[in-house]
Amino acid sequence: MDSFQKSDDYIFQTYARQPVCFVKGEGVTLWDDQGKAYLDFLSGIAVCNLGHCHPAVSKVISQQADTLVHVSNLFYTDCQADLASELISRSFADRVFFGNSGAEANEAAIKLARRYFQSRGDSQRYRIITMTQSFHGRTMATLSATGQDKIKDGFLPLLEGFVYVPFNDIDALKSAVDDTVCAVMLEPVQGEGGVIPSDPEYLKQVRALCDEQGILLIFDEIQSGMGRCGTLFAHEIYGITPDIMTLAKALGNGLPIGAMLATQDAAKGFTFGSHASTFGGTPLVTRAAHEVVKILSDTGFLDQVRKKGDYFREQLRSLQSRYAFIREVRGKGLLIGLELDPDHGRNASFYVSELMEKGFIINGIQDTILRFAPPLIIETEDIDRLVAALDTLFDSN
Ligand SMILES: Cc1ncc(COP(=O)(O)O)c(C=O)c1O
Repeated sequence: MDSFQKSDDYIFQTYARQPVCFVKGEGVTLWDDQGKAYLDFLSGIAVCNLGHCHPAVSKVISQQADTLVHVSNLFYTDCQADLASELISRSFADRVFFGNSGAEANEAAIKLARRYFQSRGDSQRYRIITMTQSFHGRTMATLSATGQDKIKDGFLPLLEGFVYVPFNDIDALKSAVDDTVCAVMLEPVQGEGGVIPSDPEYLKQVRALCDEQGILLIFDEIQSGMGRCGTLFAHEIYGITPDIMTLAKALGNGLPIGAMLATQDAAKGFTFGSHASTFGGTPLVTRAAHEVVKILSDTGFLDQVRKKGDYFREQLRSLQSRYAFIREVRGKGLLIGLELDPDHGRNASFYVSELMEKGFIINGIQDTILRFAPPLIIETEDIDRLVAALDTLFDSN
């Protein structure tokens, strides 16, 4: 039995997989079991931001695997302490909680926001306002927080206490805030919702509203953070900071790690025993993540991400000027969406399959949007190759 058959027979059929089995990755290239090479413009959905098997990260993983992989959070480890202080020194935050995934980081943020008020005796403030097109994860709390209905299908009843408002609409947000609300939670650049950046003025007003009302602002940077948008954290582009931020995906460049960061004030919501995770912040993953953060934080590196992102969008916009069915090209840094006209005869999955045939990995979201999230080490020549392949495809389809 080959890997396709075994996977289809034995693994829950929750993923619509492409018919390809990858066996090796290096930098921006993936190889399948037939020896065919692919240029990766997806990075495992914004995970391998430093490229596949980055030598410095692989080196510390293998050193740490030979030294110490796991001890309980009942004890201290230098790997966890070092990553925590690196993240704190590079962000608005004063404290961090480590978990294993994005959903877990968001669970921690949701729990912290509620407990921040409940620990002060204010139990009526427990609702969290999120955005209609948002995506925050697949656990019960995070799918309840998610604004997209398709994610919730069949899982009713949802966890109580989430209110959804349209993204980038400050009046809708203002009218949803009352004295039962403890937090506003949003992605500075929505990922799964269609690669939709926040309007700068909107985000400033959201911050001001939260301050006025004394409620917490949570940024989910699980997809948009870790250099993806051209700054280490996406909110840096906007010049404002949240009270709580969640990270995962690229934090471990492929090793599973999530983190919830908070200001000293917001962090007061958690005390001994409030929250825990067996695997959260093991020496192995925190050692790797520390290396990742050091490399990603380099200002020269981030400058390059912004430059390459601008270049990529320019090239896609030049396609847009020639193909009327391209509605919009948008995004920040190297998180880019190309929206097709819904009346165009071809949807996103058609182009995803065609490009795969030609040796390029991208993905489609919301049926009409092509998402590009290449490793941040991508070269402009690779971008040119993809754009040329898209041009040929658009020309004939
Ligand atoms: C913005 C955002 N939040 C949360 C998640 C959930 O992360 P995970 O799949 O690691 O649980 C994702 C995953 O795509 C995401 O994009």
